Amino acid sequence: MDARLEANLENWNDRVRIHAESRFYNVEGWLLKAPGPPTWEIEALGDLEGKTLVHLQCHFGMDTLQWARAGATVTGLDFSLAAIDEAKALAERAGQSERASFVCANVYDAPRALSGERFDVVYISLGALCWLPDVSKWGAVVADLLAPGGRLYLHDGHPFTSCFDDDGEQVIYSYFEEPDNPSVSDSASTYTDGEELSVTITYEWNHSIGEIVAALIGRGLVLDSLTEHDWTLFQRFPWLVETTSGLLVVPEGRPRIPLSFTVLAHSPD
Ligand SMILES: C[S@@+](CC[C@H](N)C(=O)[O-])C[C@H]1O[C@@H](n2cnc3c(N)ncnc32)[C@H](O)[C@@H]1O
Repeated sequence: MDARLEANLENWNDRVRIHAESRFYNVEGWLLKAPGPPTWEIEALGDLEGKTLVHLQCHFGMDTLQWARAGATVTGLDFSLAAIDEAKALAERAGQSERASFVCANVYDAPRALSGERFDVVYISLGALCWLPDVSKWGAVVADLLAPGGRLYLHDGHPFTSCFDDDGEQVIYSYFEEPDNPSVSDSASTYTDGEELSVTITYEWNHSIGEIVAALIGRGLVLDSLTEHDWTLFQRFPWLVETTSGLLVVPEGRPRIPLSFTVLAHSPD
């Protein structure tokens, strides 16, 4: 594997226990409440009872298991073995292990790691594409995983936000993909509460909205919709404010910028 992805893998392995114990993810509360997918995902994907869904970069499986609760047969894939072990344990605790399996692999190796299986839905949730150096190769992976007529659901951080420093005040990084020029970070903190990380170096890449869409249509997928949202689900910048429904938005008095986006696409029959 690419040395930069190896470094990211070490960092993600280090984050898993901290995240699983964090108030941010609130695993105990989630087990008690047993939520299904959020409304915007159900509006986009409808009823997936009896359908197959693969979740790329599933972390420790909370988003994946919400679709299992809604009746889908789900497969989560992540390159962090710590995340996959935690996801399997969580599936047991959530009573979803019959409908959920988890596989440890690099996204770029997913079709091989999943033995060529094709899925009704490829599902990707927040915090995924910034960890991948090449969005065109990712598009090929998505196309290879979709059954004929299968659908892609991608909700991720907006690449415009990735141009800014952590304070959200200055543009410091390219909006466009630069595979050989990652944004390098040395930080002991993660996006959740909890103790400091011991593995601190990470590499991230940006991909413009145009490059993401081109990566999909270039592999034969049909674009159904592209929506830029003025909300996200975590404190991307210190000045974002939380709405009563738990979304993070730009406060009044600041120019509105896109904070996340959703792409829906499908594979031709
Ligand atoms: C921000 S987390 C995803 C969070 C998820 N949406 C959630 O809310 O739980 C990003 C995940 O991508 C995984 N990841 C990063 N690069 C990867 C790669 N090349 N292949 C597979 N997984 C990768 C990390 O291990 C991590 O679990």
